[in-house]
Order: sequence, then C-alpha cells, then structure tokens
Amino acid sequence: MSDRDLSVVVFGATGVTGRHVAAYLSTRAEEVGARWAVAGRDAAKLERVLGEIGVTAPETIVADVGAPASLAAMASRTKVVLDLVGPYTLYGEPVIEACVAAGTHYVDLTAEMPFVRRMIDAHDERAAAAGVKVVEVSGFEAFPPDLAVALAAETARQRWDEDLSEVDLAVTTQQPTGRRLGLADIVSGGTMQSIAEALADEGAESFTDAAVLVPDPEAAGRVRERSPIALAPRFNARGDVIAPMVPAAFINPAVIQRTAALAAGERGATFQPFRYREGIAMPGSGATLPLRFVGAAFLAGTQAVFGALTRAQPSVRRRVADFLRRALPSSGFGPKGEKLEGWTWQVAVDARTAGGHYVRVDLDADGHPGYLSTARMLGEAGLLLAEDGATPGRGGCLTPAAALGTGSLDRFGRAGLRLSVSS
Ligand SMILES: NC(=O)c1ccc[n+]([C@@H]2O[C@H](COP(=O)([O-])OP(=O)(O)OC[C@H]3O[C@@H](n4cnc5c(N)ncnc54)[C@H](OP(=O)(O)O)[C@@H]3O)[C@@H](O)[C@H]2O)c1
Repeated sequence: MSDRDLSVVVFGATGVTGRHVAAYLSTRAEEVGARWAVAGRDAAKLERVLGEIGVTAPETIVADVGAPASLAAMASRTKVVLDLVGPYTLYGEPVIEACVAAGTHYVDLTAEMPFVRRMIDAHDERAAAAGVKVVEVSGFEAFPPDLAVALAAETARQRWDEDLSEVDLAVTTQQPTGRRLGLADIVSGGTMQSIAEALADEGAESFTDAAVLVPDPEAAGRVRERSPIALAPRFNARGDVIAPMVPAAFINPAVIQRTAALAAGERGATFQPFRYREGIAMPGSGATLPLRFVGAAFLAGTQAVFGALTRAQPSVRRRVADFLRRALPSSGFGPKGEKLEGWTWQVAVDARTAGGHYVRVDLDADGHPGYLSTARMLGEAGLLLAEDGATPGRGGCLTPAAALGTGSLDRFGRAGLRLSVSS
C-alpha cells in the first residue's frame, strides 16, 4: 500500500453517522500525520453537510455504489475505506469487492448478520490471500463488547494459560439529564431501514443464530450447544435486572464467538466456545423492581417477535419488510448536534476460566453510543489500520477484535473509550 496518497476515506460522509466520522478525523488525522478524504455520491451535498457542522476535509471523492469504476478508483487511492453507506444488505458488497480487488482494508458498521455471513463465505479466502482486512460490525454493536471480551480472554491466557469458560457482559447507559428524548434522539433512519432489509434477506433465519459467523459446522454446533442466545430477563449478582441488548440481542454473541474461533485457529487449537451472556443492566431501588422487570420483559417480547419473523415464510417476511421500509423513517432521520452529547455508558465483563480464575474488564465511555461514540471509534480504527505494524498482520473477513488486536487499545482513549482490567 506504499503507493497510496490517502490513509483513510470516509465513504458516506453525508449520513447521520458518516458526518461524525469526518468530524473526528478532521482534528485527529493531523495529530497522527494521516491524510484523509470524504467520499459520497454527491459532491455538492458533501460540501453542504460538512459545512453545516463546520468540518473541512482535505479532499472530496465522488463515488457511487452503483458505479463500480468509481469504487475502484476510490479504493485504489487509500489504505482504508470506512464504509458508512447502509443498508449494507443493499449497498455493502460492491464496496467490499472493490476494496479486496485494490488491496485496501475495509471497515463498516453493519449489524445485518445474514449479510455478514454471506460476505465471509464470498470474500474471506480472497481477502486473507491478499492480506486485506474486511472488518464488519464495527459500531456500538459489536466493537466495544468484542474488544472487551477479547481483552479478558487474552489476559486469562497470559496470566494462567487458560481459556475462558463463562463470560457475562453488562452494558449501562446514562442519558443526558433535563432533556426529553424522542425516537430521533436514539436511533437513525439508516439503522431502521437496515433492520427492514435484514428481514427481507434470503438468509434472515440465520440472524438469531449465535454461530452464524462460524462457518465450520462442527464448531458452530458447539457454539449453539454451549451458548444459545437467551432473551428472558434475569438478575445479575448485584440484583440488577438484566434486559436483552438493544436494538438486538443477536449481534454481539455471534461476533464474539467468531473472534474466539479465529483466535483458536491462530493458535492451532480446537475452538471450545465459552458460555456468553449479555444484556442491559437496569439498576434501581426495590420499589422500582416490578417496573424494571416489566420493561425488560417488554424488550424481550419485541425481540422474540423479531426472531419469530426471521423464521417466517419468505413471502411473509418480504411483506413485513415492505411495510417497514415505508412506515419507518429513512435516511437523514436520527440524532444530531448537541443531542449526541451528554451521554455516558459502560461495559462490564465478568469472565471465568475453566480453572476458576476470574477476570474483570471495565470500559467507560462518553458520547451517544450508537452515533457519536461509534463514529469516533470507527475513525480511530481506520487510522490504526492505516498504520504499518499497529494491528496484527493478518487478512480476511475479521471481527473488530481480530482485526485490531488488543495491543493498541489505549489509542481509543482519544475516541472517549477507557478500558481497564483486573483479575
Ligand atoms: N452497529 C452500530 O452500532 C451502528 C451505528 C450507527 C450506524 N449503523 C449502520 O450504519 C449505516 C449508516 O447509518 P446512518 O444512520 O449513518 O445512515 P444514513 O444517515 O442513511 O446515511 C447513509 C449514507 O449512505 C449514502 N448513500 C446511500 N446510497 C448511496 C449510493 N448509492 N452511493 C453512495 N452513497 C450512498 C448516503 O448518501 P446521500 O446523503 O447522498 O443520500 C449517506 O451518506 C446503517 O446501515 C446503520 O444501521 C450501525
């Protein structure tokens, strides 16, 4: 990649998330001596949107998913493409193809799991042979949980030469005080349209499978047996109600098990999945317990309905997806401006090894998790991937943790993420 004049390109920089990736790089790239550019299908819109948020990009590239030559030209100029053009089920593959062909690392934010599996089947071998990293699911789902669990696993191997046997992960979030939040403050139209597309996908049934990203059938069977995805609300050791992860409980488990499978493969070991449970912790007083439990049960119920829909007849799924495409907000809708500030969130990992050792990883962060933190993490990940020797030297369709490793995690402090380990 020594011939590349750019380190990172933000493709889809006019979107709700893309504009914040551009904002992050506009201050951060210079600090690390990286040259970056924004890309999108409409140069005038790029200029207008970035002007609105006060961002000046060193360069603008015009590229459209429907014009393969424009994607090839974009990919051949840079070391890393950060792809913010979703729904990925519709628009992701041409960008991945262009990046693999050009020998350029690719990172996206998809959580459309059937699509991710299809990309592994179609592009893993070629990407691995070319030393290209195709890194999907790199947003709030599943970047922070994946890195935190990988750090726990690595700690256990370094300290006791043991694998993890059980992992519990809890997320807590604190919203800005004194502000009423509506739907547009929480989730974007791009995300909602992506859920509709994943439902219409021919492989929708695999969405709820914890082993969807583990292609080896025997290893996948072990994941399903050891660690099926459970939606029912429960309590943790501190008595907090644990609700299923939102927007979907089906994303992180699949990514985390793939990371563990890839790590076992690297060591030449047989992959033995750990039991993984996750959720949103809802702490509170005894008086609010019934309310919290009902809230968690409601979240579990809506996800159970979604899970049932993924297993419905294709004609039913397509009709529901059609309805959702029209009924749900679309591109451009979502949290913006000051609504993204004032959020804080934490991830706590409690992990045990087969030998009874205990590892705790804490991650503490600020910024709206889905759109501001996500944008900053993605920007920093792009810069890291563009730096020689900053990440493990392997290619293929990787998870965030497998692609980035744990050696440079302190770099994410600049993106507002602080990690600590105890045992
Ligand atoms: N997992 C997570 O934590 C997480 C977090 C945030 C977002 N996401 C995912 O990221 C994706 C983007 O979300 P968002 O809310 O930022 O979406 P958005 O606001 O709808 O932005 C989509 C972007 O794609 C561009 N685009 C659409 N069609 C294109 C084409 N043919 N060629 C080139 N560019 C095209 C749009 O450009 P125009 O402005 O020209 O239309 C826009 O820049 C979604 O799939 C969402 O689910 C995931």
